[in-house]
Amino acid sequence: MTIIVTGGAGYIGAHVVDSLAAAGRDVLVVDDLSTSTADRVGDHPLHRLDLAAPGAADELAGVMRDAHATGVVHLAAKKQVGESVAKPEWYYRENVGGLGTVLEAARATGVDRLVFSSSAAVYGEPDGGVVDEGTTPRPINPYGQTKLAGEWMARAAARAWGLRQVSLRYFNVAGAGRPELGDVAVLNLMTLVLDRLERGERPVLFGDDYPTPDGTCVRDYIHVADLADAHVAALDYLDGDDRAHDTFDVGTGTGVSVAQMLAAIGAASGLDATPQVSPRRPGDPASLVATASRIREELGWAPSRGLEDIVSSAWTAWRVQRDAGVEPIRAAG
Ligand SMILES: NC(=O)c1ccc[n+]([C@@H]2O[C@H](COP(=O)([O-])OP(=O)(O)OC[C@H]3O[C@@H](n4cnc5c(N)ncnc54)[C@H](O)[C@@H]3O)[C@@H](O)[C@H]2O)c1
Repeated sequence: MTIIVTGGAGYIGAHVVDSLAAAGRDVLVVDDLSTSTADRVGDHPLHRLDLAAPGAADELAGVMRDAHATGVVHLAAKKQVGESVAKPEWYYRENVGGLGTVLEAARATGVDRLVFSSSAAVYGEPDGGVVDEGTTPRPINPYGQTKLAGEWMARAAARAWGLRQVSLRYFNVAGAGRPELGDVAVLNLMTLVLDRLERGERPVLFGDDYPTPDGTCVRDYIHVADLADAHVAALDYLDGDDRAHDTFDVGTGTGVSVAQMLAAIGAASGLDATPQVSPRRPGDPASLVATASRIREELGWAPSRGLEDIVSSAWTAWRVQRDAGVEPIRAAG
């Protein structure tokens, strides 16, 4: 009755492992540790495997059989948008190929439940900025494309051989459930700001002339521990429901602007987070917020942590990790 968590040593994956364990599920982590470290897995078994490597499906099938696996939460992927633009072939191999490995192994071993990590990046730059699962996905970079292709592949497997699967489209994930599990990848607003503040630099605000209430971009921030709990709800849904496949946005339904976020980080850290304003970056939609109503209705999941929790836990985790000598992961290239 084990759940395989691919990417379980990563930022979100380690929180998913915590949530599954708290819900009484046995967990086995499969991870190549390409962007993480084994100590994040704690006492849970870890099988080190590159899911995008030739022959990985056979090895994973063996792991699934030995563990008597019943389901997979597939988080393992590469997630840097800029890197995906520079190396699209590699992103497709890692993200789409890696999922192909998981599906082949699951089919060979009769593991018929999958929760797939998708992303709000599938929406691209939607008109109006508020989306739901009925909004047509139009990813604007290879990273988002690999996530949409992954959703399609998982759905095709559901149709072909009876896989039950849920794709979760994560919005802006931040915060930490425990300080030692904090995000050290300097790839999103929260960690970019914390990194600059730590170095005594001012945060950079890209564009203050958007058509939003305060002129800065608006996003939907979800606490990583709430997001992790959504995976438990998704697996329960797959256990209890006869629908073969479904897709859910995982957000809060509340938009927070960059300026509001900077103010919250300043308040939590006690540091001056007054930004220096730079021109807009291409590819940043003015607003991207989920209605997040379907997941509440269908899975009975709702976020329980607000912006203050997100920011204060992220700040504490950042300091704890840095004090422990954990080096930030910076954008490639
Ligand atoms: N962080 C976010 O804001 C966010 C938003 C939307 C979606 N996602 C998705 O959530 C998932 C987890 O993201 P994260 O933020 O925890 O990233 P992360 O880099 O911290 O975790 C990814 C994990 O997958 C492992 N991995 C990568 N490639 C692998 C491979 N070929 N074989 C085996 N293991 C491999 C890494 O070692 C790492 O432990 C990813 O699929 C990502 O695309 C993240």
